[in-house]
Amino acid sequence: MIRSSDEIQKLISAALKIRKNSYAPYSHYAVGAALLTHDRKIYTGVNAENSSYPVGICAERSAFAAALSDGKRSFRMIAIAGGKAGEQPEGYCMPCGMCRQFMSEFCAENFVILSVRSEDDFKSLKLKELLPYAFGFDLLDGD
Ligand code: THU
Repeated sequence: MIRSSDEIQKLISAALKIRKNSYAPYSHYAVGAALLTHDRKIYTGVNAENSSYPVGICAERSAFAAALSDGKRSFRMIAIAGGKAGEQPEGYCMPCGMCRQFMSEFCAENFVILSVRSEDDFKSLKLKELLPYAFGFDLLDGD
């Protein structure tokens, strides 16, 4: 499937833009995510922290929650931008283990994760590279 670079650029811009809305008063690490569906809609999310630390949610899962709430179940790609709040990302933010597992529920092995530092600097990875030998519903059947 051909994905135009325009589409990728739009997704990257959306992740960088929404990152400004991150709520990260405890870690001061602001993350924005933009998720592209198969029918080419974009859903965004930010990390939202909590005074009871484990209650917080990552940007990736907020973006998925927005898309799932709108009835979407089929996803192409996600762009993630993370780094010190108020500054340009320094490194390539990678999804945490919980988010990798969460994504694997809905996404194929070839689902693309773009880790974004700026409009023109990003790394592209596939879900199977980030979560090989994933635990999936097929294993729940037993036997
Ligand atoms: N975080 C994300 O939102 N996504 C990631 O990929 C990595 C970590 C958030 C969780 C927490 O609010 C902050 O970044 C620091 O861990």
